[in-house]
Amino acid sequence: MNAPLMDPAAVLRRAERLPRYTSYPTANHFTPEVTAEDYAAWLGLLPEDAALSLYLHVPFCDSLCWYCACSTKATKRYAPIAAYLERLEAEVAKVAARVPAGHGVRHLHWGGGSPDILTAQDIRRLGATLAGAFRLAPDLEFAIEVDPRLMTGEKADSLVGVGVNRISVGVQDFDPQVQRAIGRMQSFDVTRDAVGMFRERGVRSINMDLVYGLPHQTEVTLMQTLEQVLELMPDRIALFGYAHLPQRAHNQRLIDERVLPDALARYAMSQRLARALVAAGYAPRGIDHFARADDALATAPLNRNFQGYTTDAAEHLIGLGASAIGKLPQGYVQNAVGAREYMEAIDRGDLATARGFALTDDDRLHAFVIERLMCDFDISTDAVRDAFGTRAAAHVQDEIEAVLGEDGDGIVERTIDGLRMTVRGRPFVRSICARFDAYLNPEPGVVRHSMAI
Ligand SMILES: C[S@@+](CC[C@H](N)C(=O)[O-])C[C@H]1O[C@@H](n2cnc3c(N)ncnc32)[C@H](O)[C@@H]1O
Ligand code: SF4
Repeated sequence: MNAPLMDPAAVLRRAERLPRYTSYPTANHFTPEVTAEDYAAWLGLLPEDAALSLYLHVPFCDSLCWYCACSTKATKRYAPIAAYLERLEAEVAKVAARVPAGHGVRHLHWGGGSPDILTAQDIRRLGATLAGAFRLAPDLEFAIEVDPRLMTGEKADSLVGVGVNRISVGVQDFDPQVQRAIGRMQSFDVTRDAVGMFRERGVRSINMDLVYGLPHQTEVTLMQTLEQVLELMPDRIALFGYAHLPQRAHNQRLIDERVLPDALARYAMSQRLARALVAAGYAPRGIDHFARADDALATAPLNRNFQGYTTDAAEHLIGLGASAIGKLPQGYVQNAVGAREYMEAIDRGDLATARGFALTDDDRLHAFVIERLMCDFDISTDAVRDAFGTRAAAHVQDEIEAVLGEDGDGIVERTIDGLRMTVRGRPFVRSICARFDAYLNPEPGVVRHSMAI
């Protein structure tokens, strides 16, 4: 990861607005042509012993952070959360009734929003509902996204009681000036205490989210945040580039754009932090994850899903809750995005599917190429041939030649059977993925994606 830095002109050339490629095609191409009936039919085709991953979305937070691009809303009242939970449990029952009896769930992820906004009692109730509806594997990996400001010993007890064995804690930045400028006040002590509550109860896998590119951040302030984060010894760190899309996430209009770091500052920050993390013993994985040497993510084959990078290779991802996305061999399905529309769909007695995407063979081929690039920084035409046949491999080889021919910045290089990102080119991998994206069609004046650095 200690790559030579790119020269500023090359960085600026590559600082395009591009998808994060957590799926291919990306979610903005999903359409209402894929319906709840399609989803029901696809669930009906699952193999008898299907290995499943479940993602469950809780779209509520205590207050809305100004930078947040997640699908969530703030509430100080519990009634909307209780009403949502009822529908979520109804959806669990409907989906579970459609999966084959011999299935097994290997991965369970509660995301949000802030799933730890649920009361301890409701955490136990939801945990019991899932355990009663699905066959959870004995070695289940059960992760939850945690807002440390909401955590209590009682909630930690209930989370560990229902089987949580991984937590992901939102930190972003500890600098008070940055925190004021992003509408998220969170002390180091609150974060340390939340982490401690899980460690005391035996949770051994702790991730922390940091964000670079926020207002007022500098390399110096970020290094101070990192020093504090390292005191807490997280097993994994996700270092996200701030995605500023105020046209879509209206809360981001509260962010003062005049104090946002520019593309060159973002690049310098991300590289400085990456070097510091490597020096501290973390292995870089993909574009934005870091793992301690003893964590599975440090060495296991990487996959990319809607949560980012994962060791989960499940072919069958089931999304539960508002806005949740599922992936089956036939394609993607997404539930109604707003909590109200989601609840109405469930009350009508349907599955809550609002849109999706049915994959073609060409989509599967390019999804494979893009996922390998995002995860391994490499495409092997031998691997393409094994998975998709000779014609597909020849097609990808032609595309590779075009990409190699265009590269004036030294970000890609030829390999014996394909192409790989050079070490200094890795931060710009999204711009190479975009070359294999048949759907990328920038519309003038429409900003859909975040800066690719
Ligand atoms: C669901 S939240 C994490 C859990 C909890 N709600 C919290 O904030 O502590 C998911 C993560 O997405 C990241 N995130 C949210 N909005 C972002 C944005 N606009 N750009 C980059 N990362 C963002 C943050 O790092 C955040 O921790
Ligand atoms: S960052 Fe977390 S706590 Fe803040 S609004 Fe987003 S989901 Fe909620």
